[in-house]
Amino acid sequence: MRPKVYITRRIPDQITAMIENHCDVRMWHEKDTTVPREILEREITDADGLFCLLTETIDAQLMEMGPRLKVISNMAVGYNNIDIEAANNKGILVTNTPGILTETTADLTFALLMATARRITEASDYLRNGKWSTWSPMLLTGQDVHGATLGIIGMGRIGEAVAKRAKGFDMKILYHNRSRRSGVEENFGAMYVDLKSLLRESDFVCVLVPFSKETVNLIGKEELALMKRTSILINTSRGGIVNETALNDALVEGTIWAAGLDVFSQEPIALDHPLLSLPNVVVLPHIGSASVNTRLGMAQLAAHNLCKALLGEIPPNLVNK
Ligand code: DGY
Repeated sequence: MRPKVYITRRIPDQITAMIENHCDVRMWHEKDTTVPREILEREITDADGLFCLLTETIDAQLMEMGPRLKVISNMAVGYNNIDIEAANNKGILVTNTPGILTETTADLTFALLMATARRITEASDYLRNGKWSTWSPMLLTGQDVHGATLGIIGMGRIGEAVAKRAKGFDMKILYHNRSRRSGVEENFGAMYVDLKSLLRESDFVCVLVPFSKETVNLIGKEELALMKRTSILINTSRGGIVNETALNDALVEGTIWAAGLDVFSQEPIALDHPLLSLPNVVVLPHIGSASVNTRLGMAQLAAHNLCKALLGEIPPNLVNK
């Protein structure tokens, strides 16, 4: 009997074909819409494997509805959308896609940092809206990136890849992490500091920790108050780690200078959200890993993890060891 797999979004045909070599596949076909919960609940009832995205909440209740479920393969490195404890209780393997997206996400983090520092979207809108009348000494002046101090909260793979880029810009690198990382200290001269020192001393603060009970609202009013008035906050990790109300207040009151956000506590963010009305915020629709090659690679890795598990092997990117 071939295992049955449900895929929660249309993925590239060659990746579906890879899975179809071993499994019978059903899929949510509607482009760029999330599978409705009731359909997911129906599809899970006879599925042996689930290929899902960060947009689906895979909780204990859903797992209960899938008595045959052996593996949940998430096409993302972050897996806060999945209840790992519930999966452990039911003996379901959970996998993610680390590594493949590291450099692409670091590129985007750095792009957002530079766009925010140099007011790229604001300046572009200024021109397009017909406001550009002449060159002017202090027109649209931003903050220097080169030579500035970068604070990285969460020195995992992506943090390290951001540090590598920062080194090329002669930045001083501070980091805060659960443990010291001798490699980044040796290779990029990064200095380990406590969170408060990092916030006080950095010109740019990049949030790169995974979302968890411990990191929710990690950056709130008190933390923002420690930052320099000229500093810039970048978040390419998960939305709930930065308290958006506190961030909005800090930006309006001038506690910090600007923010670059690729992630939000609610995605998509509501168009009337106050953060979207601020000129000193650069916003992106969660595209950190969105290069053609990387998204293909992520889908392929997720398919590989899924198939390995369904063939009775240990998948390479098992989260719940
Ligand atoms: C992830 O993988 O967790 C990102 O947020 C999407 O690439």
